Amino acid sequence: MNRIKITDTSLRDAHQSLWATRMSTEDILPILNKLDNTGYHSLEVWGGATFDVCLRYLKEDPWERLRSIRREVKNTKLQMLLRGQSLLGYTHYPDDIVEKFIEKSAENGIDIFRVFDALNDLRNLEVPIKAAKRTGKHVQACVVYTISPVHTLEHFIDTASKLRDMGADSICIKDMAGLLSPYISFELVKALKENIDLPIQLHTHYIGGLAIATHLKAVEAGVDVIDTATVPLAFGSSQPPVETIVRALQDTQWDTGIDLGNLFEIADYFENIRKRKGFERGVTRITDMKVFEHQVPGGMISNLFSQLQEQRSVHRLGEVLKEIPRVRKDLGYPPLVTPTSQIIGIQAVMNVLTGESYKLCPSEVKDYVKGLYGKPPVEISTEIKQKIIGDEEVIAVRPADLLPPAWEKCESEVIKYAHNEEDILSYALFPQVALKYFEYRNNKDNEQKSTRESSKVPQAKRTTDETKRQKNGEGDEEMNFEEIKELILLLDNTSVAELNLQKSDYSLVLRKSAGTTEEPKTVAFLASAETTTKDIDDNEEPITTPYSENCFEVTAPIVGTFYEAPSPEAPAFVQHGDKVENGQILCIVEAMKLMNEIKAEVSGKIVEIAVADGDPVEYGQRLFLIEKE
Ligand code: CO
Repeated sequence: MNRIKITDTSLRDAHQSLWATRMSTEDILPILNKLDNTGYHSLEVWGGATFDVCLRYLKEDPWERLRSIRREVKNTKLQMLLRGQSLLGYTHYPDDIVEKFIEKSAENGIDIFRVFDALNDLRNLEVPIKAAKRTGKHVQACVVYTISPVHTLEHFIDTASKLRDMGADSICIKDMAGLLSPYISFELVKALKENIDLPIQLHTHYIGGLAIATHLKAVEAGVDVIDTATVPLAFGSSQPPVETIVRALQDTQWDTGIDLGNLFEIADYFENIRKRKGFERGVTRITDMKVFEHQVPGGMISNLFSQLQEQRSVHRLGEVLKEIPRVRKDLGYPPLVTPTSQIIGIQAVMNVLTGESYKLCPSEVKDYVKGLYGKPPVEISTEIKQKIIGDEEVIAVRPADLLPPAWEKCESEVIKYAHNEEDILSYALFPQVALKYFEYRNNKDNEQKSTRESSKVPQAKRTTDETKRQKNGEGDEEMNFEEIKELILLLDNTSVAELNLQKSDYSLVLRKSAGTTEEPKTVAFLASAETTTKDIDDNEEPITTPYSENCFEVTAPIVGTFYEAPSPEAPAFVQHGDKVENGQILCIVEAMKLMNEIKAEVSGKIVEIAVADGDPVEYGQRLFLIEKE
């Protein structure tokens, strides 16, 4: 008998992949006892996007969630996903914050730390692994799986053996995009088992339907643990269903020993939640399956979709998906997982919208090229580096070596609101979001003091507010199911009438589906949609100086907000009459929550500044006129 062990991801990855991580602690608590008595190896219940979503959208204390889960789960190990030096955020944190966070996570109930670095840059795992080892808990280190010329079997074995030497207690193959195919899975697991004397776990996503076969081949190759989810939270971009795996292995040497009857009781519970809250089933659509071609994970597509929506360019998604592999190659083949998925995605969007590669590079992309996220798997060519960061230097050290300790600073800044050290950590990770939550919590406490029985009112109100906020597709590999639904319909060429997009997208879709960009009716509709979004006092004609051949017009390369200075206190980049050099920064256009520096493409004199600080700008709108030298 060689029982296969199972990790259940229903409360973390699965609901992050399908339900935008929106299950509340209230939804989770009643089923924990059953989950605990199923015979799972571990329950993945924390980390990833759960922390951010608890604070930002659910108005819950993520630490309190962990403690309440721990109180109910007495037999099964609790597991979390940790993004290495980025913890549960999107940039690297100083070592003292990383150490404190891991110590507190263990104290509050985590038994298994699953740690990864998006670039497989092991320097970024040194401090998290050491800190997790110090707690005495199980440290599972990840080999992030992706496909590229450098991500060979040798690379994965080499990475895994270094992770073992760093103290990992087990190795996880992390296939976040569902790219691992069954026979490669067999080879990879076999090679790891032969070369690394540690338990091997496989984490994959169902997406195009490979996952069940991928798991079974891994089992044949000797894998120790595999990840699954309860059936209402399985399939689609989530994990494969536990029921199928349990059945497939029944009466073999790998029998999981898990009782199917128990699993269906759990499934019924989650299916009821799904129906009550209107959550999606995991479904594989043709567009999802195209992951085999473009390799873009589902959560990333939903982020691209909302960025394009903001730019009124949803119809250009296909071009962006084609641009992604090019950008990924240029930037040294990073695996597409948080935060590299956002970095590659936003650059691809910029390249498509501006019509020129690397004309606009958000600061995240520059930081990546400078090495502030770690070393890309392949060195970036001098030409691309020059285009993105000019002559700025690439760092040679571990990125967090450049970050000063931050605990004391955070503590002094938030001491008024913090109830405990966990609160200080929430603030260290997400300062604004945490402050808003503390404020909400204070108000709620005061309300409860004044009216004892009104405690349910804010609860009910919260749900409707939250639905509105869901449009704000921020964070992680997070699936915004509303957006995904729209996207899928769009890509599958479903009747436009079935779509429920914003007016501006709608008109673009109409124009796109009509195969023309000049259909009079829709253009008129677009125009009227735009006027309603602008201020009413628009009767003044925009003043635009006609310009001679000697003048160069600087236009907005994207839809956004114009800023004349890097910050409200700073002086404007340029004034009327200033002499500017080719390549000099003229202004910032904020778009998709990113600050984009707009540079002069000629040398000369500023003879017109066509917009005011803080003005919204449209694509192609004049910003400056420069009289050429
Ligand atoms: Co995953």
